Amino acid sequence: MLKTPYFILDLQKLEKNLSGLRSAFTSLWPNFAIGYSFKTNNLPWIASWMHAQGVMAEVVSSPEYELAKYVGYEDNCVILNGPCKGFETMDKVLKAGGIVNLDSFQEINHIKANIQNYGSRIKVGLRINFDLETACPGETIPGKEPGRFGFNIENRDFDRAIDELKSIAGVEIVGIHAHHSTKTKSLGIFKAITKKTCECASKCSCLEYIDLGGCLFGDKPGAPTFEEYAQTIVSVLCDFSIPSEIKLLLEPGAALIASPVSYVCKVIGTKDIKGTRLVFTDGSIKHIAPQMNAIRFGYNLKTSSKNTLPRQVISGYSCIEMDRFLDLNNQPELQIDDEITIKNVGAYTISLAPLFIEYYPSVIVKNGDKYSIAREAWTTKEFTQKQKLYV
Ligand SMILES: Cc1ncc(COP(=O)(O)O)c(C=O)c1O
Repeated sequence: MLKTPYFILDLQKLEKNLSGLRSAFTSLWPNFAIGYSFKTNNLPWIASWMHAQGVMAEVVSSPEYELAKYVGYEDNCVILNGPCKGFETMDKVLKAGGIVNLDSFQEINHIKANIQNYGSRIKVGLRINFDLETACPGETIPGKEPGRFGFNIENRDFDRAIDELKSIAGVEIVGIHAHHSTKTKSLGIFKAITKKTCECASKCSCLEYIDLGGCLFGDKPGAPTFEEYAQTIVSVLCDFSIPSEIKLLLEPGAALIASPVSYVCKVIGTKDIKGTRLVFTDGSIKHIAPQMNAIRFGYNLKTSSKNTLPRQVISGYSCIEMDRFLDLNNQPELQIDDEITIKNVGAYTISLAPLFIEYYPSVIVKNGDKYSIAREAWTTKEFTQKQKLYV
């Protein structure tokens, strides 16, 4: 019996997600590559597994870059994005010929000031920022507010960035990056993003790649399939006569890692108050929805209970009143030691979980009927590393 709470990663599901995405795209656009989004789940085991599968590392900070290096990535297999890359990290990836998608004029100024230090020509990509909300009303996260990332097209920052970069001898503009996190992850979003990317691509001095970012659904029932995303994107690339030598990049996180991960916790007690059964567990909403957003989780109950209760509220170990993560109606009456499994919790959970009241739980990898440990549960020993005490 494994000690709860723990995350469990179904390796066969992860393999299926990766191979499904790869084959859907390579069958329509052979020059296709994936950069795994480290931020979505930065568990070192997962990062090293992605490396072993020949997946690039999509990173947005110096610590994420260092993690990529730690698990074995060469600089030329890194995609470096984000508004705060760290100039030293950016210079390393630029020098090694990795992918750097610039986000601001400060980064262009840095390149201008340091061009003599790069040794040879460098290649850069530009992240674009445009009014996706008008193209897809109600679907974007900032809505009518401006998006934060990349060079805006409507205010001509994108054109100015191109002019600036073209004025620096030794710089080639080789890529357009267009990641957008959206509410809907719809085919319409990907159509609009690909269209805008293709319109911008002609401004690159020497186009080598188009990077459409992440935020796709994975194997969620009823959502667009990998095949549908591929057909939508590739048909726009063809409409714009993008040559087949141009590399198509995606940076999925959730589409690969959300569904293979579940979270298991155990019932430790119950109370009946105001006609409601409150069920206490050794798990917490902090592990599965660290931002405490209301999510309707899929779940399994492992119980031998024959009795059914009209309502049970499943709650966590923390002292936060709203540490409640399931509201069960007409389900078996849970008993002490019964197990609750919460499904599809691989994205933005492990990487966002706080060290609040308890430490990080263990992560188990399930490969068929074999189990191994990807992370042992943290103890006070790990929590106090690098800490100084008052003396
Ligand atoms: C630049 C970039 N690429 C990729 C991703 C991955 O997104 P998702 O996990 O939704 O696929 C993100 C997420 O915010 C991102 O910011």
